[in-house]
Amino acid sequence: MNRTTGKLKKRHLPAGAVLLVQLAAALLLLCACAGGIHTPPGETVAGPEEPGLPAGNELPTESEPPAEDGPAGDDPAPEAPPEYAIDCLVLVDETHPLPDGWEDEIRLEQFTNAVGDEVRVEKTAYAAYLDLKEALAARGVYVDLDSAFRSVAEQQAIVDEFTEKYGPAYAEAYVAEPGTSEHHTGLALDLFLIVDDRIVYENEDLMEYPGIWAEIHAILPDYGFILRYPGGNGYPYEPWHIRYVGPDAAGEMAERGLTLEEYLAAAP
Ligand code: DAL
Ligand code: ZN
Repeated sequence: MNRTTGKLKKRHLPAGAVLLVQLAAALLLLCACAGGIHTPPGETVAGPEEPGLPAGNELPTESEPPAEDGPAGDDPAPEAPPEYAIDCLVLVDETHPLPDGWEDEIRLEQFTNAVGDEVRVEKTAYAAYLDLKEALAARGVYVDLDSAFRSVAEQQAIVDEFTEKYGPAYAEAYVAEPGTSEHHTGLALDLFLIVDDRIVYENEDLMEYPGIWAEIHAILPDYGFILRYPGGNGYPYEPWHIRYVGPDAAGEMAERGLTLEEYLAAAP
């Protein structure tokens, strides 16, 4: 097996890169948190309506600080910018294509990963990922992101690459059709591992570390993530593919042992 993105050629982390990456991650964490990932108590989140979804899993909003009072007679205060809210329980799969307008709505953070690739992630998911990464590092587990947000064109490029390299059957099994990958949401993240300063990236290599994945998966709900493809719900087991759904939903799914599909189907 190989990675669904298949773009990494480098195998070893350059000397000093780990430190640089960790410093960069720390700075980004500060920025992401300052960007308003917490909803003030009592604030209503205005998000796309999706009947039947459990409450409390919309992504938090962000708002500008109030304008300073000017002298009497000044122009009225400018209108507050529209609130940012997005449905972090959105289901995107073979029968649920990406909702219209999604890519216009989401706000993405971009960073350079440990192997020099530019990675984009939905901003609330990114803040949560940085918290997860930090918590894992405190346990001696080092991860980075191979891929998160992918445009439809980028997904098509992966389909083409994998069809050519491994054949259509493999590509069909592991790579979603463009327009039906939840990577389009920016809320799906593919991790890779750094073990003893060595990049572990290819799927078959990643599968060699079940103990590390168990440690990672055990704390995902605390940071609002789930293991999206445990096997049996559309794609083979992908230990690296995690999905941000928010802490409430992630906690409930973990407690009840539900996939995202099962959780949504069970919602009143
Ligand atoms: N590998 C996952 C299913 C994707 O391509 O979205
Ligand atoms: Zn993935």
